[in-house]
Amino acid sequence: MSQELTCFSEQVAATPLYLISDDKWLTFLASQTPTHQVWLNANNFCTKVSQWCLVPNSDGQVACVCVGVDAAIDLYALSDLASSLPLGTYVIANSDDFSVADVYLLSLGWGLGAYQFNRYKKASRACAQLKVAASIDQVKLHAELQASYWIRDLINTPAADMMPQHLGALAESLATHYHGQCQQIIGDDLLTHNYPMIHAVGRASIHPPRLIDLRFGAIHLPKVTLVGKGVCFDSGGLDIKPASGMLFMKKDMGGAAHVLGLAQLILQQQLPICLRVLIPAVENAVGSNAFHPGDILTSRQGLTVEIGNTDAEGRLVLADALSEACAENPDLIIDFSTLTGAARIAVGTEIAAYFSNDDALAGALQQASEQVQDPSWRLPLFQHYKRLFTSKIADLNNAGSSSYAGAITAALFLQAFMTDQTSWIHFDIMAFNPVPSRGKPVGGEAMGLRAVFELLKERYS
Ligand code: BES
Ligand code: ZN
Ligand code: ZN
Repeated sequence: MSQELTCFSEQVAATPLYLISDDKWLTFLASQTPTHQVWLNANNFCTKVSQWCLVPNSDGQVACVCVGVDAAIDLYALSDLASSLPLGTYVIANSDDFSVADVYLLSLGWGLGAYQFNRYKKASRACAQLKVAASIDQVKLHAELQASYWIRDLINTPAADMMPQHLGALAESLATHYHGQCQQIIGDDLLTHNYPMIHAVGRASIHPPRLIDLRFGAIHLPKVTLVGKGVCFDSGGLDIKPASGMLFMKKDMGGAAHVLGLAQLILQQQLPICLRVLIPAVENAVGSNAFHPGDILTSRQGLTVEIGNTDAEGRLVLADALSEACAENPDLIIDFSTLTGAARIAVGTEIAAYFSNDDALAGALQQASEQVQDPSWRLPLFQHYKRLFTSKIADLNNAGSSSYAGAITAALFLQAFMTDQTSWIHFDIMAFNPVPSRGKPVGGEAMGLRAVFELLKERYS
Protein backbone atom coordinates (compact mmCIF):
# COMPACT_ATOMS: atom_id res chain seq x y z
CA MET A 1 0.00 0.00 0.00
CA SER A 2 2.49 2.62 1.09
CA GLN A 3 5.88 2.63 -0.46
CA GLU A 4 8.95 4.25 0.99
CA LEU A 5 9.56 7.73 -0.36
CA THR A 6 13.16 7.60 -1.55
CA CYS A 7 13.03 11.17 -2.85
CA PHE A 8 13.37 12.62 0.66
CA SER A 9 16.28 12.45 3.07
CA GLU A 10 17.16 13.63 6.57
CA GLN A 11 20.84 13.95 5.59
CA VAL A 12 22.47 16.85 7.44
CA ALA A 13 24.92 17.74 4.68
CA ALA A 14 22.72 19.04 1.90
CA THR A 15 23.49 21.13 -1.14
CA PRO A 16 21.65 24.48 -1.00
CA LEU A 17 18.99 25.18 -3.62
CA TYR A 18 18.26 28.86 -4.19
CA LEU A 19 14.83 29.45 -5.69
CA ILE A 20 14.88 32.73 -7.52
CA SER A 21 12.00 34.62 -9.06
CA ASP A 22 12.42 37.45 -11.52
CA ASP A 23 11.84 40.18 -8.94
CA LYS A 24 14.61 38.75 -6.68
CA TRP A 25 17.18 38.05 -9.39
CA LEU A 26 19.22 41.25 -9.35
CA THR A 27 19.44 41.31 -5.57
CA PHE A 28 20.44 37.66 -5.58
CA LEU A 29 23.09 38.18 -8.23
CA ALA A 30 24.54 41.12 -6.34
CA SER A 31 24.88 38.94 -3.25
CA GLN A 32 27.05 36.39 -5.10
CA THR A 33 30.83 36.36 -5.37
CA PRO A 34 32.21 37.86 -8.59
CA THR A 35 33.17 34.35 -9.77
CA HIS A 36 29.63 33.06 -9.27
CA GLN A 37 28.19 36.12 -10.99
CA VAL A 38 30.36 35.42 -14.03
CA TRP A 39 29.42 31.73 -13.90
CA LEU A 40 25.66 32.34 -13.75
CA ASN A 41 25.82 34.84 -16.60
CA ALA A 42 28.10 32.59 -18.67
CA ASN A 43 25.55 29.79 -18.24
CA ASN A 44 22.72 32.09 -19.31
CA PHE A 45 20.90 31.43 -16.08
CA CYS A 46 17.57 33.18 -16.06
CA THR A 47 14.64 32.85 -13.70
CA LYS A 48 12.45 30.89 -16.08
CA VAL A 49 10.47 28.37 -14.03
CA SER A 50 12.34 25.10 -13.41
CA GLN A 51 15.51 26.23 -15.19
CA TRP A 52 18.44 25.28 -12.98
CA CYS A 53 22.16 25.86 -12.88
CA LEU A 54 24.83 24.11 -10.81
CA VAL A 55 27.27 26.57 -9.29
CA PRO A 56 30.76 25.15 -8.48
CA ASN A 57 33.08 26.17 -5.67
CA SER A 58 36.80 26.69 -6.27
CA ASP A 59 37.43 22.91 -5.93
CA GLY A 60 34.96 22.14 -8.67
CA GLN A 61 32.44 20.73 -6.18
CA VAL A 62 28.80 21.82 -6.38
CA ALA A 63 28.46 24.84 -4.08
CA CYS A 64 24.77 25.43 -4.71
CA VAL A 65 22.04 25.13 -7.31
CA CYS A 66 20.02 28.09 -8.58
CA VAL A 67 16.49 27.36 -9.77
CA GLY A 68 14.07 29.73 -11.46
CA VAL A 69 10.57 30.02 -9.99
CA ASP A 70 7.57 32.29 -10.52
CA ALA A 71 6.72 34.74 -7.77
CA ALA A 72 3.41 32.87 -7.46
CA ILE A 73 4.69 29.40 -6.63
CA ASP A 74 3.76 26.57 -8.98
CA LEU A 75 3.35 23.09 -7.50
CA TYR A 76 5.51 21.58 -10.23
CA ALA A 77 8.38 24.13 -10.16
CA LEU A 78 10.85 21.57 -8.68
CA SER A 79 9.30 18.46 -10.19
CA ASP A 80 12.04 17.79 -12.74
CA LEU A 81 14.85 18.12 -10.23
CA ALA A 82 14.70 14.75 -8.47
CA SER A 83 15.39 12.99 -11.76
CA SER A 84 17.79 15.50 -13.29
CA LEU A 85 20.08 16.87 -10.55
CA PRO A 86 23.22 14.89 -9.69
CA LEU A 87 22.47 12.30 -6.99
CA GLY A 88 22.71 13.69 -3.48
CA THR A 89 20.67 15.61 -0.94
CA TYR A 90 19.42 19.15 -1.48
CA VAL A 91 17.70 21.67 0.72
CA ILE A 92 15.77 24.83 -0.13
CA ALA A 93 18.23 27.35 1.27
CA ASN A 94 16.01 30.41 1.00
CA SER A 95 12.80 28.79 2.29
CA ASP A 96 12.25 31.80 4.55
CA ASP A 97 11.43 33.81 1.42
CA PHE A 98 8.31 31.65 0.92
CA SER A 99 5.22 30.86 2.90
CA VAL A 100 4.98 27.50 4.63
CA ALA A 101 2.18 26.58 2.20
CA ASP A 102 4.45 27.32 -0.76
CA VAL A 103 7.33 25.27 0.64
CA TYR A 104 4.84 22.44 1.19
CA LEU A 105 3.70 22.61 -2.44
CA LEU A 106 7.27 22.73 -3.74
CA SER A 107 8.20 19.66 -1.69
CA LEU A 108 5.08 17.84 -2.85
CA GLY A 109 5.92 18.70 -6.46
CA TRP A 110 9.43 17.33 -5.95
CA GLY A 111 7.92 14.06 -4.78
CA LEU A 112 5.34 13.85 -7.57
CA GLY A 113 8.11 14.27 -10.15
CA ALA A 114 10.23 11.55 -8.54
CA TYR A 115 7.60 8.83 -9.10
CA GLN A 116 8.51 5.81 -11.20
CA PHE A 117 6.42 2.72 -11.87
CA ASN A 118 8.86 -0.08 -11.20
CA ARG A 119 6.77 -3.18 -10.67
CA TYR A 120 7.94 -4.70 -13.98
CA LYS A 121 11.14 -2.77 -14.75
CA LYS A 122 13.86 -1.59 -12.42
CA ALA A 123 14.11 2.16 -11.85
CA SER A 124 16.30 3.73 -14.54
CA ARG A 125 18.18 5.73 -11.91
CA ALA A 126 17.97 6.66 -8.26
CA CYS A 127 16.57 10.10 -7.55
CA ALA A 128 18.15 13.14 -6.00
CA GLN A 129 16.76 13.72 -2.52
CA LEU A 130 15.22 16.72 -0.84
CA LYS A 131 15.73 17.51 2.81
CA VAL A 132 12.31 18.83 3.70
CA ALA A 133 12.05 22.06 5.70
CA ALA A 134 11.19 21.51 9.37
CA SER A 135 8.38 24.05 9.13
CA ILE A 136 6.08 21.91 7.00
CA ASP A 137 3.77 19.06 7.95
CA GLN A 138 5.91 16.10 6.87
CA VAL A 139 3.39 13.48 7.93
CA LYS A 140 0.74 15.00 5.65
CA LEU A 141 3.29 15.41 2.85
CA HIS A 142 4.19 11.73 3.01
CA ALA A 143 0.54 10.68 3.25
CA GLU A 144 -0.48 12.72 0.21
CA LEU A 145 2.43 11.43 -1.83
CA GLN A 146 1.86 7.84 -0.80
CA ALA A 147 -1.80 8.11 -1.78
CA SER A 148 -0.84 9.61 -5.17
CA TYR A 149 1.83 6.96 -5.76
CA TRP A 150 -0.58 4.19 -4.82
CA ILE A 151 -3.24 5.52 -7.17
CA ARG A 152 -0.70 5.77 -10.00
CA ASP A 153 0.61 2.25 -9.30
CA LEU A 154 -2.88 0.75 -9.30
CA ILE A 155 -3.79 2.41 -12.60
CA ASN A 156 -0.45 1.53 -14.21
CA THR A 157 -0.73 -2.13 -13.29
CA PRO A 158 -1.87 -4.13 -16.34
CA ALA A 159 -5.43 -5.45 -16.31
CA ALA A 160 -4.24 -9.07 -16.03
CA ASP A 161 -2.75 -8.22 -12.62
CA MET A 162 -5.47 -5.79 -11.49
CA MET A 163 -8.74 -7.67 -11.84
CA PRO A 164 -11.69 -7.48 -9.41
CA GLN A 165 -10.11 -10.07 -7.10
CA HIS A 166 -6.92 -8.00 -6.91
CA LEU A 167 -8.88 -4.87 -5.98
CA GLY A 168 -10.71 -7.01 -3.43
CA ALA A 169 -7.44 -8.19 -1.86
CA LEU A 170 -6.10 -4.62 -1.68
CA ALA A 171 -9.33 -3.46 -0.04
CA GLU A 172 -9.03 -6.30 2.50
CA SER A 173 -5.49 -5.27 3.38
CA LEU A 174 -6.54 -1.63 3.78
CA ALA A 175 -9.31 -2.74 6.13
CA THR A 176 -6.92 -4.90 8.16
CA HIS A 177 -4.31 -2.16 8.40
CA TYR A 178 -6.76 0.49 9.59
CA HIS A 179 -9.04 -1.75 11.68
CA GLY A 180 -12.00 -1.44 9.36
CA GLN A 181 -14.38 -3.99 7.89
CA CYS A 182 -14.41 -5.28 4.35
CA GLN A 183 -17.39 -7.09 2.92
CA GLN A 184 -17.45 -8.45 -0.61
CA ILE A 185 -20.42 -9.68 -2.62
CA ILE A 186 -19.06 -11.85 -5.42
CA GLY A 187 -20.41 -13.41 -8.62
CA ASP A 188 -24.00 -14.70 -8.56
CA ASP A 189 -24.40 -13.48 -4.98
CA LEU A 190 -24.74 -10.05 -6.58
CA LEU A 191 -28.11 -11.24 -7.89
CA THR A 192 -29.32 -12.49 -4.52
CA HIS A 193 -28.24 -9.22 -2.94
CA ASN A 194 -29.94 -7.25 -5.72
CA TYR A 195 -27.06 -5.72 -7.66
CA PRO A 196 -28.33 -6.75 -11.11
CA MET A 197 -26.46 -4.19 -13.18
CA ILE A 198 -23.07 -4.88 -11.57
CA HIS A 199 -23.68 -8.55 -12.28
CA ALA A 200 -24.80 -7.98 -15.87
CA VAL A 201 -21.76 -5.90 -16.80
CA GLY A 202 -19.26 -8.25 -15.15
CA ARG A 203 -20.72 -11.70 -15.79
CA ALA A 204 -18.93 -12.45 -19.10
CA SER A 205 -15.50 -12.28 -17.49
CA ILE A 206 -13.71 -15.29 -16.03
CA HIS A 207 -12.93 -12.93 -13.14
CA PRO A 208 -16.27 -12.73 -11.32
CA PRO A 209 -17.67 -9.26 -10.67
CA ARG A 210 -17.93 -8.06 -7.10
CA LEU A 211 -19.06 -5.22 -4.90
CA ILE A 212 -16.38 -4.24 -2.40
CA ASP A 213 -17.77 -2.53 0.69
CA LEU A 214 -15.34 -1.02 3.21
CA ARG A 215 -16.21 0.67 6.51
CA PHE A 216 -14.04 2.62 8.93
CA GLY A 217 -14.60 4.80 11.98
CA ALA A 218 -17.19 5.26 14.69
CA ILE A 219 -20.83 5.40 13.60
CA HIS A 220 -21.63 8.56 15.55
CA LEU A 221 -19.25 10.54 13.30
CA PRO A 222 -20.49 12.25 10.10
CA LYS A 223 -20.86 9.64 7.41
CA VAL A 224 -19.02 10.06 4.11
CA THR A 225 -19.36 7.45 1.37
CA LEU A 226 -16.89 7.18 -1.51
CA VAL A 227 -17.83 5.25 -4.63
CA GLY A 228 -15.27 4.32 -7.31
CA LYS A 229 -15.77 2.89 -10.78
CA GLY A 230 -13.77 -0.33 -10.81
CA VAL A 231 -13.93 -1.49 -14.42
CA CYS A 232 -10.68 -3.44 -14.45
CA PHE A 233 -10.70 -3.62 -18.21
CA ASP A 234 -13.19 -2.00 -20.56
CA SER A 235 -13.21 -3.81 -23.89
CA GLY A 236 -16.53 -2.08 -24.61
CA GLY A 237 -18.33 -5.42 -24.32
CA LEU A 238 -20.26 -6.59 -27.41
CA ASP A 239 -20.15 -2.98 -28.63
CA ILE A 240 -16.43 -3.59 -28.77
CA LYS A 241 -14.00 -0.69 -28.83
CA PRO A 242 -11.53 -0.26 -31.67
CA ALA A 243 -7.91 -1.14 -30.80
CA SER A 244 -6.91 2.49 -30.34
CA GLY A 245 -9.79 3.11 -27.93
CA MET A 246 -9.07 -0.06 -25.97
CA LEU A 247 -5.33 0.38 -25.56
CA PHE A 248 -5.39 2.22 -22.24
CA MET A 249 -8.54 0.70 -20.81
CA LYS A 250 -6.62 -0.90 -17.94
CA LYS A 251 -7.11 2.56 -16.45
CA ASP A 252 -10.89 2.15 -16.26
CA MET A 253 -10.55 1.18 -12.60
CA GLY A 254 -9.08 4.65 -11.99
CA GLY A 255 -12.10 5.64 -9.92
CA ALA A 256 -11.55 2.62 -7.66
CA ALA A 257 -7.87 3.54 -7.36
CA HIS A 258 -8.86 7.06 -6.33
CA VAL A 259 -11.27 6.02 -3.60
CA LEU A 260 -8.74 3.53 -2.19
CA GLY A 261 -5.99 6.17 -2.22
CA LEU A 262 -8.26 8.80 -0.73
CA ALA A 263 -9.43 6.38 1.95
CA GLN A 264 -5.83 5.64 2.87
CA LEU A 265 -5.08 9.36 3.09
CA ILE A 266 -8.17 9.99 5.25
CA LEU A 267 -7.22 7.12 7.55
CA GLN A 268 -3.55 8.06 7.79
CA GLN A 269 -4.58 11.60 8.64
CA GLN A 270 -7.30 10.40 11.05
CA LEU A 271 -10.12 12.61 9.78
CA PRO A 272 -13.03 12.33 12.21
CA ILE A 273 -15.54 10.77 9.83
CA CYS A 274 -17.36 7.50 9.50
CA LEU A 275 -16.09 6.35 6.14
CA ARG A 276 -17.64 3.91 3.71
CA VAL A 277 -16.05 2.94 0.39
CA LEU A 278 -18.02 1.13 -2.30
CA ILE A 279 -16.30 -0.29 -5.36
CA PRO A 280 -18.24 -2.13 -8.05
CA ALA A 281 -15.37 -4.12 -9.56
CA VAL A 282 -15.93 -5.82 -12.92
CA GLU A 283 -14.33 -6.61 -16.23
CA ASN A 284 -16.44 -5.46 -19.19
CA ALA A 285 -15.61 -8.48 -21.33
CA VAL A 286 -16.83 -10.07 -24.52
CA GLY A 287 -18.28 -13.54 -24.04
CA SER A 288 -21.20 -15.79 -24.88
CA ASN A 289 -23.00 -14.69 -21.73
CA ALA A 290 -22.21 -11.00 -22.11
CA PHE A 291 -25.09 -8.54 -21.77
CA HIS A 292 -26.37 -7.35 -25.15
CA PRO A 293 -27.21 -4.09 -26.83
CA GLY A 294 -31.00 -3.89 -26.55
CA ASP A 295 -31.22 -5.81 -23.27
CA ILE A 296 -33.28 -4.21 -20.55
CA LEU A 297 -31.84 -4.42 -17.04
CA THR A 298 -33.75 -3.74 -13.86
CA SER A 299 -31.50 -1.76 -11.54
CA ARG A 300 -31.14 -2.21 -7.78
CA GLN A 301 -33.31 0.85 -7.31
CA GLY A 302 -36.07 -0.49 -9.59
CA LEU A 303 -35.66 1.73 -12.65
CA THR A 304 -35.39 -0.23 -15.90
CA VAL A 305 -32.51 0.55 -18.24
CA GLU A 306 -32.39 -0.23 -21.94
CA ILE A 307 -28.84 -0.95 -23.10
CA GLY A 308 -28.14 1.42 -25.97
CA ASN A 309 -24.44 0.62 -25.81
CA THR A 310 -22.58 -1.98 -23.76
CA ASP A 311 -19.61 0.39 -23.69
CA ALA A 312 -21.55 2.78 -21.43
CA GLU A 313 -21.02 0.24 -18.64
CA GLY A 314 -19.54 2.49 -15.96
CA ARG A 315 -22.82 4.29 -15.30
CA LEU A 316 -24.57 0.92 -14.87
CA VAL A 317 -22.26 -0.43 -12.19
CA LEU A 318 -22.10 2.96 -10.47
CA ALA A 319 -25.88 3.31 -10.50
CA ASP A 320 -26.33 0.18 -8.37
CA ALA A 321 -23.52 1.22 -6.02
CA LEU A 322 -24.88 4.77 -5.67
CA SER A 323 -28.37 3.45 -4.85
CA GLU A 324 -26.83 1.45 -2.03
CA ALA A 325 -24.77 4.46 -0.89
CA CYS A 326 -27.93 6.61 -0.70
CA ALA A 327 -29.83 3.98 1.29
CA GLU A 328 -27.87 4.92 4.41
CA ASN A 329 -28.46 8.63 3.91
CA PRO A 330 -24.84 9.73 4.46
CA ASP A 331 -23.85 13.36 4.92
CA LEU A 332 -21.92 13.26 1.66
CA ILE A 333 -21.37 10.95 -1.31
CA ILE A 334 -18.40 11.40 -3.64
CA ASP A 335 -17.84 9.20 -6.65
CA PHE A 336 -14.76 9.03 -8.83
CA SER A 337 -14.94 7.50 -12.29
CA THR A 338 -13.31 7.38 -15.70
CA LEU A 339 -16.85 7.64 -16.98
CA THR A 340 -16.76 9.31 -20.39
CA GLY A 341 -14.39 10.22 -23.17
CA ALA A 342 -16.42 13.43 -23.40
CA ALA A 343 -15.10 14.77 -20.07
CA ARG A 344 -11.56 15.06 -21.41
CA ILE A 345 -12.88 16.67 -24.59
CA ALA A 346 -14.53 19.27 -22.35
CA VAL A 347 -11.71 20.03 -19.91
CA GLY A 348 -8.59 18.35 -21.33
CA THR A 349 -6.45 15.79 -19.60
CA GLU A 350 -5.19 17.88 -16.68
CA ILE A 351 -8.42 19.05 -15.06
CA ALA A 352 -10.76 16.90 -13.01
CA ALA A 353 -14.32 17.54 -14.22
CA TYR A 354 -16.92 17.32 -11.46
CA PHE A 355 -20.65 17.74 -10.98
CA SER A 356 -22.59 18.44 -7.81
CA ASN A 357 -26.20 18.82 -6.67
CA ASP A 358 -25.06 21.14 -3.83
CA ASP A 359 -23.87 24.63 -4.81
CA ALA A 360 -22.26 25.44 -1.46
CA LEU A 361 -20.35 22.17 -1.53
CA ALA A 362 -19.23 22.75 -5.12
CA GLY A 363 -18.04 26.24 -4.14
CA ALA A 364 -16.03 24.82 -1.25
CA LEU A 365 -14.49 22.22 -3.56
CA GLN A 366 -13.57 24.87 -6.11
CA GLN A 367 -11.84 26.88 -3.41
CA ALA A 368 -10.02 23.83 -2.06
CA SER A 369 -8.90 22.84 -5.54
CA GLU A 370 -7.35 26.27 -6.13
CA GLN A 371 -5.76 26.36 -2.69
CA VAL A 372 -3.91 23.07 -3.15
CA GLN A 373 -3.31 23.45 -6.89
CA ASP A 374 -5.29 20.37 -7.83
CA PRO A 375 -7.16 21.73 -10.86
CA SER A 376 -10.84 20.77 -10.91
CA TRP A 377 -13.76 22.36 -12.73
CA ARG A 378 -17.51 22.07 -12.26
CA LEU A 379 -19.77 21.11 -15.15
CA PRO A 380 -23.54 21.57 -14.97
CA LEU A 381 -26.21 18.98 -14.19
CA PHE A 382 -28.34 20.60 -16.90
CA GLN A 383 -31.68 18.90 -16.33
CA HIS A 384 -33.06 19.53 -19.84
CA TYR A 385 -30.55 17.06 -21.25
CA LYS A 386 -32.35 14.24 -19.46
CA ARG A 387 -34.44 13.99 -22.61
CA LEU A 388 -31.32 12.77 -24.42
CA PHE A 389 -31.38 9.37 -22.71
CA THR A 390 -35.04 8.48 -22.61
CA SER A 391 -36.17 5.09 -23.86
CA LYS A 392 -39.46 4.09 -25.48
CA ILE A 393 -39.52 0.71 -23.79
CA ALA A 394 -37.68 1.27 -20.47
CA ASP A 395 -37.34 4.05 -17.90
CA LEU A 396 -33.93 5.09 -19.23
CA ASN A 397 -31.40 4.29 -21.93
CA ASN A 398 -27.76 4.00 -20.87
CA ALA A 399 -26.41 5.73 -23.99
CA GLY A 400 -27.64 9.13 -25.03
CA SER A 401 -29.11 9.73 -28.46
CA SER A 402 -26.85 12.74 -28.93
CA SER A 403 -23.13 12.85 -29.55
CA TYR A 404 -22.95 16.11 -27.60
CA ALA A 405 -22.65 16.73 -23.85
CA GLY A 406 -21.64 13.13 -23.13
CA ALA A 407 -20.18 13.91 -19.70
CA ILE A 408 -23.34 15.78 -18.66
CA THR A 409 -25.75 13.07 -19.82
CA ALA A 410 -23.68 10.43 -18.01
CA ALA A 411 -23.79 12.51 -14.81
CA LEU A 412 -27.55 13.02 -15.18
CA PHE A 413 -27.96 9.28 -15.65
CA LEU A 414 -26.19 8.70 -12.32
CA GLN A 415 -28.33 11.39 -10.68
CA ALA A 416 -31.46 9.41 -11.57
CA PHE A 417 -30.27 6.82 -9.01
CA MET A 418 -29.52 9.32 -6.24
CA THR A 419 -31.84 10.66 -3.58
CA ASP A 420 -32.20 14.43 -3.97
CA GLN A 421 -31.42 15.33 -0.37
CA THR A 422 -27.98 13.68 -0.31
CA SER A 423 -25.10 16.05 -1.08
CA TRP A 424 -23.17 14.53 -3.92
CA ILE A 425 -20.06 15.17 -5.98
CA HIS A 426 -19.42 13.15 -9.12
CA PHE A 427 -15.92 13.24 -10.64
CA ASP A 428 -15.45 12.25 -14.27
CA ILE A 429 -11.68 12.05 -14.61
CA MET A 430 -9.01 11.05 -17.08
CA ALA A 431 -6.79 9.45 -14.39
CA PHE A 432 -3.99 9.14 -16.91
CA ASN A 433 -1.26 11.35 -18.37
CA PRO A 434 -1.08 10.56 -22.10
CA VAL A 435 2.09 12.65 -22.50
CA PRO A 436 4.71 13.56 -19.90
CA SER A 437 4.86 17.01 -18.37
CA ARG A 438 6.55 18.42 -15.28
CA GLY A 439 5.59 16.29 -12.28
CA LYS A 440 3.25 14.17 -14.38
CA PRO A 441 4.94 11.13 -15.86
CA VAL A 442 3.11 9.19 -18.58
CA GLY A 443 0.58 6.82 -17.04
CA GLY A 444 -1.83 6.73 -14.14
CA GLU A 445 -2.54 10.00 -12.38
CA ALA A 446 -4.37 11.09 -9.24
CA MET A 447 -6.82 13.89 -10.05
CA GLY A 448 -8.99 15.72 -7.56
CA LEU A 449 -7.51 13.66 -4.71
CA ARG A 450 -5.92 16.53 -2.78
CA ALA A 451 -8.78 18.93 -3.55
CA VAL A 452 -11.27 16.50 -2.04
CA PHE A 453 -9.05 15.77 0.94
CA GLU A 454 -8.77 19.50 1.65
CA LEU A 455 -12.53 19.87 1.29
CA LEU A 456 -13.15 17.04 3.75
CA LYS A 457 -10.63 18.50 6.20
CA GLU A 458 -12.33 21.89 6.12
CA ARG A 459 -15.79 20.35 6.43
CA TYR A 460 -15.15 17.86 9.20
CA SER A 461 -12.24 18.88 11.42
N1 BES B 1 -14.35 3.98 -19.91
C1 BES B 1 -15.02 4.67 -20.94
C2 BES B 1 -14.79 6.17 -20.90
C3 BES B 1 -13.44 6.68 -21.27
C4 BES B 1 -12.97 6.53 -22.56
C5 BES B 1 -12.71 7.38 -20.35
C6 BES B 1 -11.74 7.04 -22.89
C7 BES B 1 -11.50 7.89 -20.68
C8 BES B 1 -11.00 7.70 -21.95
C9 BES B 1 -16.52 4.46 -20.84
O1 BES B 1 -16.94 3.26 -20.32
C10 BES B 1 -17.05 4.58 -22.23
O2 BES B 1 -16.66 3.81 -23.04
N2 BES B 1 -17.92 5.55 -22.43
C11 BES B 1 -18.47 5.83 -23.71
C12 BES B 1 -19.94 6.08 -23.54
C13 BES B 1 -20.73 6.05 -24.81
C14 BES B 1 -20.73 4.65 -25.38
C15 BES B 1 -22.13 6.50 -24.51
C16 BES B 1 -17.78 7.08 -24.26
O3 BES B 1 -17.47 7.98 -23.49
O4 BES B 1 -17.52 7.09 -25.47
ZN1 ZN C 1 -17.06 1.67 -21.77
ZN1 ZN D 1 -15.59 2.33 -18.97
